Amino acid sequence: MTKAFIAGHPIKHSRSPLVHGYWLERYGLGGSYERLDIAPADFPAFVRDFAARGFAGGNVTIPHKETAYLAADRRTERAERLKAVNTLWVENGLVWGDNTDVLGFMAHLDQSLGQGWEQSVDTVLVIGAGGAARAVVAGLQDRPVGQILVANRTPAKADELARDLDRGPGTVRSLPWDTIGEVLPSVDLIVNSTSLGMAGQPPLDLDLRAARSRAIVADIVYVPLKTPLLAAAEAQGLRVVDGLGMLLHQAAPGFARWFGVTPEVTPDLRALIVSDIEKTP
Ligand code: ATR
Repeated sequence: MTKAFIAGHPIKHSRSPLVHGYWLERYGLGGSYERLDIAPADFPAFVRDFAARGFAGGNVTIPHKETAYLAADRRTERAERLKAVNTLWVENGLVWGDNTDVLGFMAHLDQSLGQGWEQSVDTVLVIGAGGAARAVVAGLQDRPVGQILVANRTPAKADELARDLDRGPGTVRSLPWDTIGEVLPSVDLIVNSTSLGMAGQPPLDLDLRAARSRAIVADIVYVPLKTPLLAAAEAQGLRVVDGLGMLLHQAAPGFARWFGVTPEVTPDLRALIVSDIEKTP
């Protein structure tokens, strides 16, 4: 029986076990996907030992993504670029790491907006500069969008992100937090990749009245599903993309690696997670 895990600290609120549990049942596989609470000090040893403990691999979440990147024996090119790993597996005795958040975010945009959405997107504004923001920027860079502007409360982190990920002059540029309002009228896609708007956190304070009528607003927060930012965007008639799809789509490549079946993100799966979020936010 194949075993996989999600390792984090804390881990009890993660919805990933529900996602993988749904697929294991749906595809009739006898595997398991276990929640493991691993303290930061124990994580490097865990990366060395998980195969001996009978795991084929697993997901890594807050706060271990960077340690997983450092502790893996080999990494995909994407994980190298982001310096963060969220998916681990073993190949020929070596621990490999990938970052599937990139694919997760982009697959969800494609599914929500339809293929070819980039044609009407020139300038993107990414708010936040943490691990999730890096995945968002790296995904967008593979598409024919023009400029990617990154604004973060701590400006040095936005500068560092732009330095690490920029592939040519001007494609990724950091922007002072207090100038967000000034660029808003000229952006086509706005992505919140901070934790603002999450249950228990203050909302992202953004006055969308200055935004273009064709602007798209995406959030990576999925608890609640309709964040104050998305509600404000909807009230103004803007197109919105919620954060749950990224969670669902990032899970698929890992499942395929460990269990050998490429799973589908279906409306049923989404409904299951939505009802769980509504029950216990
Ligand atoms: P993740 O891996 O989910 O991206 P992270 O690396 O801790 O998590 O990043 C969290 C992001 O949310 C950061 O951009 C953070 O801004 P700072 O770099 O200034 O900390 C942003 N964030 C969290 N709380 C915030 C707040 N109250 N106001 C503005 N930004 C906030």
